[in-house]
Amino acid sequence: MTTTTSPQPTGHQLAYARHDWSSAFRNVGVELTDVPLVAARGSIPADLAGTLYRNGPGRLERGGRWVHHPFDGDGMIAAFRFDAGQAYLTNRFVRTEGWLAEEDAGTFVYRGVFGTQKPGGPLANAFDLRLKNIANTQVVRLGDQLLALWEAAEPHALDPRTLETRELSRLDGVLKPGEAFSAHPRFDPGHHGEPRMVTFGVKAGPTSTIRLMEFATDDQPGGVRAGELVADSRHGFKGFAFLHDFAITPSWAVFLQNAVAFNPLPFVLGQKGAAQCLASKPGEAGQFWLVPRQAGHHAGAKPIQVPAPAGFVFHHLNAFEDAATGEVVVDSIYYEDFPSIGPEVDFREIDFASIPEGQLRRCRIDPRSGTVQSEWLEQRCCEFAMVNPARQGLEPRFAWMAVAEREQGNDPLQAIEKLDLHTGERRVWSAAPRGFVSEPVMVPRPDSAAEDRSAEDSGWVLVPVWNGARCATDLVILNAADMTEQAVLELPLAIPYGLHGTWAPA
Ligand code: CO
Repeated sequence: MTTTTSPQPTGHQLAYARHDWSSAFRNVGVELTDVPLVAARGSIPADLAGTLYRNGPGRLERGGRWVHHPFDGDGMIAAFRFDAGQAYLTNRFVRTEGWLAEEDAGTFVYRGVFGTQKPGGPLANAFDLRLKNIANTQVVRLGDQLLALWEAAEPHALDPRTLETRELSRLDGVLKPGEAFSAHPRFDPGHHGEPRMVTFGVKAGPTSTIRLMEFATDDQPGGVRAGELVADSRHGFKGFAFLHDFAITPSWAVFLQNAVAFNPLPFVLGQKGAAQCLASKPGEAGQFWLVPRQAGHHAGAKPIQVPAPAGFVFHHLNAFEDAATGEVVVDSIYYEDFPSIGPEVDFREIDFASIPEGQLRRCRIDPRSGTVQSEWLEQRCCEFAMVNPARQGLEPRFAWMAVAEREQGNDPLQAIEKLDLHTGERRVWSAAPRGFVSEPVMVPRPDSAAEDRSAEDSGWVLVPVWNGARCATDLVILNAADMTEQAVLELPLAIPYGLHGTWAPA
C-alpha cells in the first residue's frame, strides 16, 4: 500500500484481479457484539473517540438464489466504537419485516427494487407491487435515536449501542405510514445557530412533490428527542422525480432532477424491478431545483428551476453560496448516462468498460439569469465524496473521495484521494492491487475549531477495505492531511461493499 502525490499511469493493464473484486459478494455470516479489534499495522489514534456507523447490503443470497443487484441486499449495520486507543466492533442485521419473513421462509418472498425477483418467473412476480423496506442505505444519529435509512419508506430506529432494532419509526408522527424519507440527510453544522439535520422525502408521479424537513439535532446523550421538526415545507414539480441525494447551503436546498423517464409496465408485469424501468431521455437536460430554506435569505420565495448539464448524478459532494458572484455552486459526481444492469446480466460478471465512470464536476448556478457554467474538478473515476463536516454547505478547501487505481476509464474503487479544491493538488492512498474501498468518512480531530480554516484537513479518514487476500474486511485509518496510513484493523468479519456511513462523536 502506497501514498503518492502524483500516481504514475498504469496504462490499460488492470490494477486488480477480478476474483479478488467479486469475492466480496457474500452473505454476512455472523453478528458480533463489542469484539475488541487489534491493529495489524500501525496504532489506533488515542484522540479518536466516538462511533463509526456503517450500513450496506449484508445478505445477497437466499436458498441458492442471488439478488439481481447488491442494492437489493438487506441492511446490515456495523458499529466501530473507538475509545482511548481501543476499538470494538458490533454488527447486526436490521430486523425489517421483509428480513424476518425471508429468514423464516429461507427464500426471497419479496421483489427487489433493483431487479431481484421471487422464484417462479414473471407469473409469480406480476402485480406484486409491494416494496420491501430493506433499510440498507445509510445510518445516522438523530437525537436519541439511531436510524437505518432507505429512501422509499420510513426509517428503522435502532439502539445506538447494541444495534437492536426497536421499531419502524415515524419520528413521533412526523411521517405518515409508508412515507418516503431520504437516505441522504445533510448535517447543517450551524448555519442558523444550532446544528440541524436537513432531509427530504419524494412523492414521485407525473407531478412530484418534495417534502423538505429540518430536524433539531444534539450529540449529547439524552438530548433532543428524534423527530423535533424545526422546518417543514412541500414543493411540487412537473415530471417523475428520481432524487437520491441533495445538497444544502445556508439559504438553499439544491436538488438535481436527472432527465429520466419511468415506464412502470415491465415492473407491473413482473419482468423487471422498479429501478430497471428508469431510462435516460437522450438529448434532454436535467433540472436543478433550488428550494429556499425557511431560515435562509429567500424564505417564502418560490423554488427556482435551472437547466443542468447533460449527464446523470446520484451523489453530490457539497454546495455553497459564492458571496462575490451571487452564484450557488454545486459539486457533483457525474455519469455520462444512467448506469443500470439489464435483466439478463449477473452483477458479479459486470464489464466495467461498458459502464460510464463517475467524475467530479462543479456547476456554478446563477439564480438570477437561470444559467449554469461547469468545469471538471476530477476526471479520474470517483464516487462517495465528502468535505469536512464543519464545511457542509460552505465553501470547502478539501474533498476526500473513493477513486479507481487507474487515472482513466471505469474500474472498481481501490484508492482514497484527497483533493485540494483551490490548487488541484491530489494525494492518494491506495489499497491496490488486492484491496477495494467503500465510502471514506472524514472525521475531524476533536480539538480542531470549525472556523479555523487551517485545521480543515486535521483529522482522519476511516474507510472499510475489502481485502481480497484475506477474503475479509479491513478498517483502515488514514491521516486526513497527508493521507498516510495510521492503522489497519483486520476485522473478524467479511462485509460486502457497503453504501453509506456516519461518525458520531463520543
Ligand atoms: Co447514496
